[in-house]
Amino acid sequence: MRITCGRRGVRTLAWVSGTRLDPYSDRYAARTHGMTASEIRALFAVVSRPEVVSLAGGMPAVTALPLDAVGSMIGDLVSGHGATTLQYGSGQGDPRLRERICDVMALEGIGVGGDIDASPDNVVVTVGSQQGLDLVARVFCDPGDIVLAEAPSYVGALGVFQAAQAEVRHVDMDADGLIPEALREALLTLRAQGRRAKFLYTVPNFHNPAGVTLPVQRREEILALADEFDLLIVEDNPYGLLGFDRDPLPAMRSRAADRVIYLGSFSKTFSPGLRVGWVYAPVAVREKLVLASEAQILCPPSLTQYAVARYLDTQPWQQQIKVFCELYRERRDATLDSLAALMPDGVSWTKPDGGFYVWLQLPEGLDAKVMQPRAISARVAYVPGVGFYADGSGQRFLRLSYCYPEPDRIREGVRRLAGVIESEIELRETFGGIDPASLHGAAPVTVRAGDLSPDPGTAASHSATGGSSPAADAP
Ligand SMILES: Cc1ncc(COP(=O)(O)O)c(C=O)c1O
Repeated sequence: MRITCGRRGVRTLAWVSGTRLDPYSDRYAARTHGMTASEIRALFAVVSRPEVVSLAGGMPAVTALPLDAVGSMIGDLVSGHGATTLQYGSGQGDPRLRERICDVMALEGIGVGGDIDASPDNVVVTVGSQQGLDLVARVFCDPGDIVLAEAPSYVGALGVFQAAQAEVRHVDMDADGLIPEALREALLTLRAQGRRAKFLYTVPNFHNPAGVTLPVQRREEILALADEFDLLIVEDNPYGLLGFDRDPLPAMRSRAADRVIYLGSFSKTFSPGLRVGWVYAPVAVREKLVLASEAQILCPPSLTQYAVARYLDTQPWQQQIKVFCELYRERRDATLDSLAALMPDGVSWTKPDGGFYVWLQLPEGLDAKVMQPRAISARVAYVPGVGFYADGSGQRFLRLSYCYPEPDRIREGVRRLAGVIESEIELRETFGGIDPASLHGAAPVTVRAGDLSPDPGTAASHSATGGSSPAADAP
């Protein structure tokens, strides 16, 4: 790069070919400093090769949709109703879709019975729930504000909190999700420090990445804590309708109207490519969210909103969700059965009863990120756990997604992964205390005591700034 003076003395910037220096680096906002390219994106070319079994990305099995019916429905929306569907729309989202969203939320108890309403007036349609997360962070977080979040947490949420320059403090989970006592402890610590969390971010159903679900009793306990400590909860629920064995559990939002901001999505129950999600918020918050969204995108895309509303109006969407659940259940079974049959001693994993993900813990001394290049050479891909922690811990964990590959591919992928883990263990046993990272030519990685807990998903509660960037953009 060189900096030259233009004719009127104006500095202009030019690249020196072959360098990777960024001529704009002294101009970027502070919020960009922690943004780095995701590891999955870097690996994407390799991972998407047909010979690699990818258990990495959480891509829904959209080919199980009635594609012809969806295609002709969308075609008709354009040819028959293009004057509206190809036009700008309302910043808050299409009223008809907002009504149908209330029907969807009713399946998880929102607005059903009791005095808690489900009003289309308080629904804000977003470009996926990812935009909903971003709006919530924009509306609530100033730099340095504290957000409580599960350890581990959805990588896309960590990215949003980091961009908002919020400080993420993790709260422990176990096989039943967020631990209420750990939340109480975190809240007491904050109180003792004279601080307050802006909100708790939680994924109560079929957690991404941990695969676990919060039982009703814990939901009640967490809501009671929210009352006691005047805590706002952001309930992110894209997977709630994808349970394999039972009806959906009541959303936290169905029990506490003023305490909970609820995020929903059609990405997992219909199509992620349409990018339609929503936020359901108390009225005052809803107003702010609409203003923030209008500043960001003017309005959500009309065509995809109409497509979702038409789909809900004309297609057997609840039946289709059952089709998805059956398909994912079969893939979950293939994953759990082959893990049980093939994984060496010392490896443990969660047992999801819905959703897309299994969270796996490696034996002590192994590091999922260090192991990743060997896994790729063995033609299997996963997401290292480190990206799901705001402080870059989680070295012993990795996430497997079973939603996309066919069961046979899953079995083959797990077989390959088991082989890789076995050789890592052998390597560690042969070289004793030597850090396996140095044997692979990678930088040594410190494993913190908090990552050595026996149960998956129970890495210690971290008091962390949003220092490291999310390691993967696979949702
Ligand atoms: C927990 C969670 N929240 C939010 C999202 C974002 O979903 P979308 O923007 O597609 O609705 C995802 C995507 O996988 C997710 O897993």
